[in-house]
Amino acid sequence: MRLKLIVQVSLITGIVLLFTSALFGYFNISSLKQAFLKSAVSDLDHLGETIFRAVFHQMLKNDRKAIQVTIGEVGAGKGIERIRILNREGVVAFSTRKSEIGTTIDKKKAPACMNCHDTGVVREKASPLVHSRMFLDSNGVKVLGMIRPIYNESKCWTGDCHAHSRTDRFLGLLDITISADPMLSMIRNYRNNTVVQIFFLILSISLCLTLLTKRLVIQPVHTLLEHTRAVGKGIWSFVHSVPGDELGELAEAFNDMTNKLKKNRDEMDEWAATLETRVEERTREIKEMQSVLVRTEKLASLGELVAGIAHELNNPLTGIMIHASLIADDSRLDEDLAEDCRTVLHEASRCSNIVRELLDFARISDSQKELQPISEAIGRTIALIEHNVDFKEIEIILEYEPDLPDIMMDASQIEQVLVNIMINSGQAMPHGGRLLIKIGVGDTQDHLYIRIEDSGCGISGENLEKLFDPFFSTKGHKGTGLGLSVSYGIIQSHSGEIKVESELGVGTVFTIILPLAGGDSNI
Ligand SMILES: Nc1ncnc2c1ncn2[C@@H]1O[C@H](COP(=O)(O)OP(=O)(O)O)[C@@H](O)[C@H]1O
Ligand SMILES: [Mg+2]
Repeated sequence: MRLKLIVQVSLITGIVLLFTSALFGYFNISSLKQAFLKSAVSDLDHLGETIFRAVFHQMLKNDRKAIQVTIGEVGAGKGIERIRILNREGVVAFSTRKSEIGTTIDKKKAPACMNCHDTGVVREKASPLVHSRMFLDSNGVKVLGMIRPIYNESKCWTGDCHAHSRTDRFLGLLDITISADPMLSMIRNYRNNTVVQIFFLILSISLCLTLLTKRLVIQPVHTLLEHTRAVGKGIWSFVHSVPGDELGELAEAFNDMTNKLKKNRDEMDEWAATLETRVEERTREIKEMQSVLVRTEKLASLGELVAGIAHELNNPLTGIMIHASLIADDSRLDEDLAEDCRTVLHEASRCSNIVRELLDFARISDSQKELQPISEAIGRTIALIEHNVDFKEIEIILEYEPDLPDIMMDASQIEQVLVNIMINSGQAMPHGGRLLIKIGVGDTQDHLYIRIEDSGCGISGENLEKLFDPFFSTKGHKGTGLGLSVSYGIIQSHSGEIKVESELGVGTVFTIILPLAGGDSNI
């Protein structure tokens, strides 16, 4: 069975206090008893001395009647039980109890004699304590007795009676017994008082300790326990802590722990809540990376093929165009045939355009890069396109931050990208519109962006996926479908990125991102 802390503290304190107090009381009362006994024996010794002095002259005169009277009078005093004088043979010569006068005490058997005669050798000049004894007298009363030897003195053998010879050591004994009751009742009273005092001491100390333990330990521990249980159930409660003692520190540590637990829990909850969107985001990123990879591979293999074909086609096409042009200009040709010939010339020049774009596409990797201002490249591009028929009804707005950093680039290639994108925008706004071009440095300060926004027809989600594929075009025989794939390759060779956002009927935004010199090229 497990006892509560407060019961344990009270029990252990009580037992320890009881034990130490009992020990203290025992030694205290014992030493008091000894002190009382010594004092009583000393009083008895003085009484013996007084009696002896009182009867000494009567003894010298051998006035036995007077001795008996003196003993009787002194013996009538309060608390004195008995006074008697024994001669050397142990015969009671005088006594306050007249009945025993003349009787003989056997010194080898009487308990009173044993203090001095127990070893066979008589203890002379011993302390009064040795000659004293406590015993129950014939009336059943506890008494304190003392035997005082009467030594032979010169006056005794020079006296008139000459009763004693000079060689005698002892002449007799004076035996006094007094009641031990006053002393014993005093000791009893003292013992009772001590017991009561110890009882109240133990009671008050135990009470104080119990109350203090309850207030200083049990209550704070209970509070902590309640809070711990609450935290276990997910209720984030905090303990009111008073710094100073160990329990205060414990409460502070508890609050600290609760705080950390709460933070971790919140993070976990948030993590769980956003896990789905994170997974979706990551999946989208992976898909994007995959499509970039596929597109790059496609471009690379296509580049090799295209370079070969374009090269081979270029010469015959030039021949066709020269001859078609010569025939078309011949005055001998009638007008119908001349018109057909011009159609051949037009289609051949379209083929030549395609071949040129294909060659551009194949030549992307051998670019000549150097640090140049982007604003100049933009300026040249706008100057080139604004005279184009497609841009008649279009408002071109250019916004850029002053002091833009220079970019490591092949200016003619970047211009080609800008032309491709802007021409597409122009073609997407056949009834006019607005082309907004913004240039700036990115938030992370490691790249530059060129944002080209038009208010054209927009691109469907389905087409957006195929936008950068070579030969993807929605313009029929008017488009080659190579502009954006060439642009994509160029920006990639500049370690940049090209992004597109579009909404059907609203417009399209192309964003080109180019790394700044010293920045991370892998944007
Ligand atoms: N700004 C734009 N607005 C709408 N559609 C666009 C835009 N830019 C490109 N496109 C679409 O992307 C296709 C591919 O463009 P591109 O590679 O330049 O080839 P082309 O212009 O020869 O068709 C275009 O046919 C067109 O459908
Ligand atoms: Mg185009």
